[in-house]
Amino acid sequence: MTLPLPVIQPSTLSADEIAQLQREIRELAARRGAVIIAHNYQRPEVQDVAHFVGDSLGLSRQAAKTDADVIVFCGVHFMAETAVILAPGKRVLLPDLEAGCSLAATITAEDVRRWRAEFPGYIAVGYVNTTADVKAELDYCCTSGNVLDVIDAIPADRGILFLPDFFLGSHVRRMRPDRRIEVWMGECHVHKGINPERLEAQRRAHPDAEVLVHPECGCAGQLVYSMGIGDIDPEGLHIASTERMIQLVAERPASEFIVATETGIMHRMAQLAPEKHFLPADPEAVCAYMKTITLPRVKESLELDRYHITVPKDVAARARAAVDRMVALGAGGKPGD
Ligand code: 13P
Ligand code: SF4
Repeated sequence: MTLPLPVIQPSTLSADEIAQLQREIRELAARRGAVIIAHNYQRPEVQDVAHFVGDSLGLSRQAAKTDADVIVFCGVHFMAETAVILAPGKRVLLPDLEAGCSLAATITAEDVRRWRAEFPGYIAVGYVNTTADVKAELDYCCTSGNVLDVIDAIPADRGILFLPDFFLGSHVRRMRPDRRIEVWMGECHVHKGINPERLEAQRRAHPDAEVLVHPECGCAGQLVYSMGIGDIDPEGLHIASTERMIQLVAERPASEFIVATETGIMHRMAQLAPEKHFLPADPEAVCAYMKTITLPRVKESLELDRYHITVPKDVAARARAAVDRMVALGAGGKPGD
Protein backbone atom coordinates (compact mmCIF):
# COMPACT_ATOMS: atom_id res chain seq x y z
CA MET A 1 0.00 0.00 0.00
CA THR A 2 1.41 3.42 -0.90
CA LEU A 3 0.46 6.17 1.49
CA PRO A 4 -0.19 9.62 -0.05
CA LEU A 5 2.59 12.03 0.89
CA PRO A 6 1.25 15.25 2.47
CA VAL A 7 2.58 18.58 1.20
CA ILE A 8 4.74 20.19 3.90
CA GLN A 9 3.29 23.59 4.86
CA PRO A 10 6.04 26.03 5.88
CA SER A 11 5.34 27.77 9.17
CA THR A 12 4.18 31.36 8.57
CA LEU A 13 3.78 32.16 12.28
CA SER A 14 5.76 35.02 13.80
CA ALA A 15 7.71 34.51 17.04
CA ASP A 16 4.95 36.35 18.94
CA GLU A 17 2.21 34.21 17.39
CA ILE A 18 4.14 31.05 18.27
CA ALA A 19 4.56 32.18 21.89
CA GLN A 20 0.85 33.10 22.11
CA LEU A 21 -0.27 29.74 20.69
CA GLN A 22 2.07 27.88 23.02
CA ARG A 23 0.57 29.72 26.02
CA GLU A 24 -2.97 28.92 24.88
CA ILE A 25 -2.10 25.27 24.31
CA ARG A 26 -0.51 24.90 27.77
CA GLU A 27 -3.61 26.54 29.36
CA LEU A 28 -5.99 24.30 27.44
CA ALA A 29 -3.93 21.23 28.37
CA ALA A 30 -3.98 22.19 32.05
CA ARG A 31 -7.76 22.75 31.95
CA ARG A 32 -8.34 19.37 30.30
CA GLY A 33 -5.81 17.51 32.43
CA ALA A 34 -3.96 16.60 29.25
CA VAL A 35 -0.31 15.83 28.66
CA ILE A 36 1.36 16.74 25.37
CA ILE A 37 4.08 14.43 24.08
CA ALA A 38 6.15 14.98 20.94
CA HIS A 39 8.45 12.82 18.86
CA ASN A 40 12.05 13.87 18.18
CA TYR A 41 11.12 14.63 14.53
CA GLN A 42 8.38 17.16 15.29
CA ARG A 43 8.57 20.84 14.30
CA PRO A 44 10.69 22.84 16.82
CA GLU A 45 7.73 24.90 18.08
CA VAL A 46 5.73 21.71 18.69
CA GLN A 47 8.63 20.07 20.57
CA ASP A 48 8.90 23.23 22.68
CA VAL A 49 5.25 23.17 23.79
CA ALA A 50 5.33 19.46 24.71
CA HIS A 51 5.67 18.16 28.27
CA PHE A 52 7.85 15.30 26.98
CA VAL A 53 9.94 14.81 23.81
CA GLY A 54 11.44 11.45 22.88
CA ASP A 55 11.47 8.36 20.67
CA SER A 56 8.40 6.41 19.70
CA LEU A 57 8.43 3.66 22.31
CA GLY A 58 9.74 5.94 25.06
CA LEU A 59 6.79 8.27 24.47
CA SER A 60 4.28 5.43 24.61
CA ARG A 61 5.78 4.36 27.92
CA GLN A 62 5.49 7.95 29.08
CA ALA A 63 1.82 7.85 28.09
CA ALA A 64 1.34 4.73 30.20
CA LYS A 65 3.10 6.28 33.21
CA THR A 66 1.42 9.67 33.31
CA ASP A 67 -1.55 10.43 35.60
CA ALA A 68 -3.18 12.48 32.82
CA ASP A 69 -6.33 11.03 31.27
CA VAL A 70 -5.85 12.72 27.90
CA ILE A 71 -2.69 12.40 25.81
CA VAL A 72 -2.07 14.62 22.81
CA PHE A 73 0.37 12.56 20.76
CA CYS A 74 2.41 14.78 18.41
CA GLY A 75 3.86 12.04 16.25
CA VAL A 76 2.48 9.63 13.66
CA HIS A 77 -0.49 7.26 13.69
CA PHE A 78 1.28 3.99 14.61
CA MET A 79 2.91 5.74 17.59
CA ALA A 80 -0.47 6.94 18.86
CA GLU A 81 -1.77 3.37 18.47
CA THR A 82 1.18 2.07 20.48
CA ALA A 83 0.28 4.55 23.22
CA VAL A 84 -3.30 3.21 23.20
CA ILE A 85 -1.96 -0.36 23.46
CA LEU A 86 0.32 0.48 26.40
CA ALA A 87 -2.06 2.91 28.10
CA PRO A 88 -5.54 1.38 27.79
CA GLY A 89 -8.24 3.57 29.32
CA LYS A 90 -6.49 6.83 28.39
CA ARG A 91 -7.82 9.07 25.64
CA VAL A 92 -5.12 9.40 22.97
CA LEU A 93 -5.53 12.26 20.48
CA LEU A 94 -3.56 12.61 17.23
CA PRO A 95 -3.78 16.23 16.00
CA ASP A 96 -3.82 15.33 12.27
CA LEU A 97 -5.02 12.11 10.67
CA GLU A 98 -2.69 12.60 7.70
CA ALA A 99 0.20 11.80 10.05
CA GLY A 100 0.86 8.29 8.75
CA CYS A 101 4.17 6.50 8.11
CA SER A 102 5.38 5.28 4.72
CA LEU A 103 7.32 2.45 6.40
CA ALA A 104 4.42 1.17 8.53
CA ALA A 105 2.24 1.30 5.38
CA THR A 106 4.44 -1.26 3.56
CA ILE A 107 2.86 -4.23 5.35
CA THR A 108 -0.63 -5.28 6.42
CA ALA A 109 -1.80 -7.91 8.91
CA GLU A 110 -2.89 -10.07 5.93
CA ASP A 111 0.66 -9.81 4.45
CA VAL A 112 2.10 -11.08 7.77
CA ARG A 113 -0.35 -14.01 7.91
CA ARG A 114 0.53 -14.99 4.32
CA TRP A 115 4.28 -14.66 4.98
CA ARG A 116 4.02 -16.79 8.12
CA ALA A 117 2.14 -19.46 6.19
CA GLU A 118 5.01 -19.55 3.67
CA PHE A 119 7.59 -20.07 6.47
CA PRO A 120 6.01 -22.35 9.06
CA GLY A 121 7.88 -22.49 12.38
CA TYR A 122 9.59 -19.13 11.83
CA ILE A 123 9.39 -16.48 14.57
CA ALA A 124 7.97 -13.11 13.47
CA VAL A 125 9.85 -10.06 14.78
CA GLY A 126 8.57 -6.59 13.92
CA TYR A 127 9.96 -3.13 14.40
CA VAL A 128 7.78 -0.65 16.35
CA ASN A 129 7.00 1.17 13.08
CA THR A 130 4.01 -1.08 12.42
CA THR A 131 0.24 -0.69 12.80
CA ALA A 132 -1.56 -2.26 15.77
CA ASP A 133 -3.10 -4.84 13.37
CA VAL A 134 0.40 -5.92 12.28
CA LYS A 135 1.78 -5.97 15.84
CA ALA A 136 -1.08 -8.33 16.74
CA GLU A 137 0.36 -10.90 14.27
CA LEU A 138 3.92 -10.78 15.70
CA ASP A 139 5.74 -12.95 18.21
CA TYR A 140 8.05 -10.11 19.23
CA CYS A 141 8.12 -6.40 18.80
CA CYS A 142 11.55 -4.69 18.77
CA THR A 143 13.15 -1.27 18.48
CA SER A 144 16.26 -0.25 16.57
CA GLY A 145 18.09 -0.18 19.92
CA ASN A 146 17.21 -3.69 21.09
CA VAL A 147 16.70 -5.68 17.89
CA LEU A 148 19.88 -7.75 18.36
CA ASP A 149 18.92 -8.63 21.96
CA VAL A 150 15.56 -9.88 20.69
CA ILE A 151 17.16 -11.93 17.88
CA ASP A 152 19.69 -13.45 20.33
CA ALA A 153 16.89 -14.50 22.70
CA ILE A 154 15.26 -16.64 19.98
CA PRO A 155 16.54 -20.26 19.92
CA ALA A 156 19.33 -20.62 17.35
CA ASP A 157 17.52 -23.34 15.37
CA ARG A 158 14.48 -21.14 14.66
CA GLY A 159 14.23 -19.09 11.49
CA ILE A 160 13.17 -15.45 11.81
CA LEU A 161 10.87 -13.24 9.74
CA PHE A 162 11.96 -9.64 10.20
CA LEU A 163 9.69 -6.76 9.22
CA PRO A 164 9.03 -4.17 7.90
CA ASP A 165 12.31 -2.28 7.35
CA PHE A 166 14.70 -3.70 4.78
CA PHE A 167 17.70 -1.59 5.87
CA LEU A 168 17.33 -2.44 9.56
CA GLY A 169 16.77 -6.10 8.58
CA SER A 170 19.91 -6.11 6.42
CA HIS A 171 21.88 -4.59 9.31
CA VAL A 172 20.64 -7.42 11.57
CA ARG A 173 21.50 -10.04 8.97
CA ARG A 174 25.06 -8.74 8.66
CA MET A 175 25.48 -8.65 12.44
CA ARG A 176 24.15 -12.23 12.82
CA PRO A 177 25.35 -14.00 9.65
CA ASP A 178 24.77 -17.49 11.09
CA ARG A 179 21.02 -16.94 11.63
CA ARG A 180 18.27 -17.75 9.10
CA ILE A 181 16.58 -14.36 8.67
CA GLU A 182 14.03 -13.43 6.01
CA VAL A 183 13.62 -9.67 5.60
CA TRP A 184 10.52 -7.77 4.41
CA MET A 185 11.23 -5.27 1.61
CA GLY A 186 9.76 -2.22 3.39
CA GLU A 187 11.47 1.16 3.50
CA CYS A 188 10.94 4.67 4.77
CA HIS A 189 11.07 7.27 2.01
CA VAL A 190 12.97 9.71 4.27
CA HIS A 191 15.77 7.40 5.40
CA LYS A 192 16.10 5.73 1.99
CA GLY A 193 17.34 9.06 0.60
CA ILE A 194 20.25 9.21 3.06
CA ASN A 195 22.60 7.09 0.96
CA PRO A 196 26.33 6.27 1.30
CA GLU A 197 27.38 8.81 -1.36
CA ARG A 198 25.66 11.69 0.45
CA LEU A 199 27.10 10.67 3.79
CA GLU A 200 30.63 10.22 2.44
CA ALA A 201 30.54 13.68 0.82
CA GLN A 202 29.68 15.18 4.23
CA ARG A 203 32.41 13.15 5.95
CA ARG A 204 35.02 14.37 3.46
CA ALA A 205 33.94 17.98 4.00
CA HIS A 206 33.99 17.59 7.82
CA PRO A 207 36.69 15.01 8.67
CA ASP A 208 36.65 15.78 12.42
CA ALA A 209 32.90 15.33 12.84
CA GLU A 210 31.46 12.25 14.52
CA VAL A 211 28.68 10.52 12.58
CA LEU A 212 25.28 9.51 13.97
CA VAL A 213 23.36 7.12 11.70
CA HIS A 214 19.86 5.69 12.18
CA PRO A 215 19.79 1.99 11.20
CA GLU A 216 16.85 2.67 8.85
CA CYS A 217 19.15 4.69 6.56
CA GLY A 218 20.14 3.47 3.12
CA CYS A 219 23.76 3.96 4.19
CA ALA A 220 23.61 1.96 7.44
CA GLY A 221 23.91 -1.50 5.90
CA GLN A 222 26.92 -0.53 3.79
CA LEU A 223 28.58 1.20 6.75
CA VAL A 224 28.30 -1.89 8.95
CA TYR A 225 29.70 -3.99 6.14
CA SER A 226 32.59 -1.58 5.49
CA MET A 227 33.40 -1.43 9.21
CA GLY A 228 33.34 -5.25 9.33
CA ILE A 229 35.93 -5.62 6.56
CA GLY A 230 38.06 -2.77 7.91
CA ASP A 231 37.36 -0.27 5.08
CA ILE A 232 35.94 2.30 7.49
CA ASP A 233 37.38 3.29 10.85
CA PRO A 234 34.53 2.73 13.33
CA GLU A 235 35.92 5.42 15.68
CA GLY A 236 33.45 8.28 15.80
CA LEU A 237 30.78 6.46 13.79
CA HIS A 238 27.65 5.41 15.67
CA ILE A 239 24.66 3.46 14.38
CA ALA A 240 21.99 4.36 16.90
CA SER A 241 18.28 4.90 17.53
CA THR A 242 16.99 8.48 17.81
CA GLU A 243 17.15 8.58 21.62
CA ARG A 244 20.63 7.06 21.71
CA MET A 245 21.78 9.74 19.22
CA ILE A 246 20.65 12.42 21.66
CA GLN A 247 22.59 10.72 24.47
CA LEU A 248 25.74 10.48 22.31
CA VAL A 249 25.67 14.21 21.60
CA ALA A 250 25.96 14.80 25.36
CA GLU A 251 28.42 11.96 26.02
CA ARG A 252 30.95 12.38 23.21
CA PRO A 253 33.65 15.07 23.36
CA ALA A 254 33.35 15.95 19.64
CA SER A 255 32.23 19.47 18.77
CA GLU A 256 30.76 18.59 15.37
CA PHE A 257 28.27 15.85 14.40
CA ILE A 258 26.91 14.67 11.06
CA VAL A 259 23.32 13.57 11.67
CA ALA A 260 21.96 10.85 9.36
CA THR A 261 18.27 10.82 10.18
CA GLU A 262 15.22 13.13 9.98
CA THR A 263 16.43 16.70 10.46
CA GLY A 264 13.88 17.60 13.19
CA ILE A 265 16.05 15.81 15.75
CA MET A 266 18.71 18.51 15.43
CA HIS A 267 16.49 20.97 17.33
CA ARG A 268 16.74 18.89 20.48
CA MET A 269 20.45 18.30 19.94
CA ALA A 270 21.09 22.05 19.62
CA GLN A 271 19.11 22.69 22.81
CA LEU A 272 21.08 20.04 24.66
CA ALA A 273 24.53 21.14 23.44
CA PRO A 274 24.30 24.70 22.05
CA GLU A 275 28.10 24.95 21.80
CA LYS A 276 28.28 22.01 19.33
CA HIS A 277 27.56 21.98 15.56
CA PHE A 278 25.10 19.66 13.86
CA LEU A 279 25.15 19.00 10.12
CA PRO A 280 22.45 17.01 8.36
CA ALA A 281 23.74 14.12 6.21
CA ASP A 282 20.86 15.08 3.92
CA PRO A 283 19.08 18.42 4.49
CA GLU A 284 16.10 17.05 2.55
CA ALA A 285 15.52 14.24 5.06
CA VAL A 286 12.23 15.67 6.28
CA CYS A 287 9.22 13.52 7.19
CA ALA A 288 6.12 15.10 5.65
CA TYR A 289 3.88 12.97 7.90
CA MET A 290 5.52 14.26 11.07
CA LYS A 291 5.29 17.83 9.78
CA THR A 292 1.48 17.69 9.40
CA ILE A 293 1.35 18.42 13.14
CA THR A 294 1.44 22.22 13.67
CA LEU A 295 0.65 24.41 16.69
CA PRO A 296 -2.83 25.37 15.34
CA ARG A 297 -3.56 21.61 14.88
CA VAL A 298 -2.44 20.87 18.46
CA LYS A 299 -4.68 23.63 19.77
CA GLU A 300 -7.68 22.37 17.74
CA SER A 301 -6.99 18.88 18.98
CA LEU A 302 -7.45 20.03 22.60
CA GLU A 303 -10.40 22.32 21.84
CA LEU A 304 -12.32 19.88 19.64
CA ASP A 305 -11.14 16.65 21.29
CA ARG A 306 -9.81 15.26 18.02
CA TYR A 307 -8.70 12.90 16.58
CA HIS A 308 -9.44 10.12 19.04
CA ILE A 309 -7.30 7.04 18.21
CA THR A 310 -8.75 3.67 19.16
CA VAL A 311 -7.62 0.05 18.78
CA PRO A 312 -10.11 -2.86 19.08
CA LYS A 313 -9.67 -4.63 22.44
CA ASP A 314 -8.68 -8.05 21.02
CA VAL A 315 -6.14 -6.49 18.61
CA ALA A 316 -4.68 -4.36 21.42
CA ALA A 317 -4.32 -7.42 23.69
CA ARG A 318 -2.46 -9.44 21.04
CA ALA A 319 -0.27 -6.47 20.05
CA ARG A 320 0.48 -5.83 23.71
CA ALA A 321 1.64 -9.44 24.10
CA ALA A 322 4.30 -8.89 21.39
CA VAL A 323 5.53 -5.73 23.15
CA ASP A 324 5.46 -7.45 26.57
CA ARG A 325 7.52 -10.39 25.24
CA MET A 326 10.20 -7.91 24.16
CA VAL A 327 10.14 -6.22 27.56
CA ALA A 328 10.23 -9.60 29.34
CA LEU A 329 13.55 -10.33 27.60
CA GLY A 330 14.95 -7.33 29.43
CA ALA A 331 15.50 -5.86 26.01
CA GLY A 332 12.96 -3.09 26.09
CA GLY A 333 13.33 -1.40 29.40
CA LYS A 334 15.68 1.45 28.56
CA PRO A 335 14.54 4.86 27.36
CA GLY A 336 17.46 4.89 24.95
CA ASP A 337 16.07 1.99 22.90
P1 13P B 1 12.37 6.00 16.93
O1 13P B 1 11.65 4.75 17.28
O2 13P B 1 13.85 5.90 17.14
O3 13P B 1 11.75 7.16 17.61
O4 13P B 1 12.22 6.24 15.36
C1 13P B 1 10.96 6.18 14.82
C2 13P B 1 10.97 6.52 13.41
O5 13P B 1 9.96 6.77 12.82
C3 13P B 1 12.24 6.47 12.69
O6 13P B 1 12.06 7.04 11.47
FE1 SF4 C 1 7.77 6.75 9.20
FE2 SF4 C 1 10.03 7.44 7.97
FE3 SF4 C 1 8.46 9.32 8.96
FE4 SF4 C 1 9.84 7.69 10.60
S1 SF4 C 1 10.67 9.20 9.17
S2 SF4 C 1 7.67 8.29 10.81
S3 SF4 C 1 9.78 5.79 9.44
S4 SF4 C 1 7.92 7.92 7.29
